[in-house]
Amino acid sequence: MHPQSLMMSAGYDPASAQHAVKLPLYLTSTFEFESAEEGKAFFQAAYGNNETAEGDEPGYIYSRIDNPNLHVLEKRLCLWDETEDCAVFGSGMAAISTTLLELLKPGDVLLYGSPVYGGTAHFIADYLPKNGIECIRFNAQHTMEEVMHLLIDSGKSSRLKCIFLETPANPTNDIFDIAMCREIADHFSKPDEPVQVVVDNTFMGPIWSHPVRHGADLVVYSATKYIGGHSDLIAGAVLGSREMIGRIKELRTFFGSMPSPHTCWMLTRSLETLKVRMEAQMENARLVAGYLEHHPFVEKVHYLGLIPEDSKQYPLYRKQYSSPGAMISFDIHGGEEEAFRFMNGLQLFKLAVSLGSTESLVQHPATMTHAGIPADERNEMGVTDKMVRLSIGLEHADDLIRDIEQAMDIVAFSSFQDVDNSRVTIQVHES
Ligand SMILES: Cc1ncc(COP(=O)(O)O)c(C=O)c1O
Repeated sequence: MHPQSLMMSAGYDPASAQHAVKLPLYLTSTFEFESAEEGKAFFQAAYGNNETAEGDEPGYIYSRIDNPNLHVLEKRLCLWDETEDCAVFGSGMAAISTTLLELLKPGDVLLYGSPVYGGTAHFIADYLPKNGIECIRFNAQHTMEEVMHLLIDSGKSSRLKCIFLETPANPTNDIFDIAMCREIADHFSKPDEPVQVVVDNTFMGPIWSHPVRHGADLVVYSATKYIGGHSDLIAGAVLGSREMIGRIKELRTFFGSMPSPHTCWMLTRSLETLKVRMEAQMENARLVAGYLEHHPFVEKVHYLGLIPEDSKQYPLYRKQYSSPGAMISFDIHGGEEEAFRFMNGLQLFKLAVSLGSTESLVQHPATMTHAGIPADERNEMGVTDKMVRLSIGLEHADDLIRDIEQAMDIVAFSSFQDVDNSRVTIQVHES
């Protein structure tokens, strides 16, 4: 069956809970053993010290290790990306940091595609080097030969252990070639030390792209975004082989970075509507991007649906993605001042960071989500003062477009006011 059909049932047997149709919320920190022998056996299984047959479910011990709400959520998430296992986390950053700390040790090298979300950029560029991990940056325009040269010229290629990509990248919607990175990883892998490819699929997943099919070893998500989808929780997930996820779960147990049962319960509820939500958001985004493309105050729209068919990126877009998504960034004519006027003028869009929720959101990456990245680096990756990012929600597309239109009118009036040096009162309508 399709994952969409299994989101209401997979991993849960109603007979295990008074035949409740819905998975109950297991608010318990600990689980009672039927006997001391059973407790010993559960611990042995948790520490991998006994032979458990494939498919055997280990018993529950303590909610930092596992809990029915965590367990069912992980099972259901695996269905979309067709992976063997999944580990859920208390945030997307917990998923990313735990994964990278499991894969890398002092002396290792990480190659990463830029841009990435500001928090990820900070963890990679500021935290990992303090722990002796060297990080090399490349961008979506680099060819395979150029990336290989970058690595070889650095003199560090023999220490490469991991390639990290965020694709489409936040906030520019740049797309990276996962298969190309797989080839690079294989080239530098040693028989006992494979180079792992990790892809943050938050913008597209898990509906419109499946990075493992293109060669990724691990897929990470901020489940705070589309998977949660209602701006009411923080969570993350990593998916991949049983062996890799087992290693990551071990570290999660000791970091204590799992989500609460309540967060997991909310996420299983959200998963039931994920596909319909994302499809409706995509449809709205297509109409909004079409409007922005022709607006005289808009210099450029960064949206996958506008990649020209004759461009180098187009075949990659068609290969990796089944939809242009619902994230749009655009460059407004002017700079921070005009961007702020536009954002302050919006009535229906909420001025807030984050993305993927039912309500539409607007933010200014250069001074908000990506403010921690040095200005020259930020400008180089296209995250300039004139960029505004929109996350398109489930409102009526006509209302979203009307909101953008009236906010752009405010920008126009303000420019006129500056030139004329006269006072202009702007009437903002409530509708
Ligand atoms: C692409 C991407 N990855 C990871 C994260 C971090 O997720 P969280 O806020 O759930 O820790 C974010 C947050 O905005 C993001 O946009």
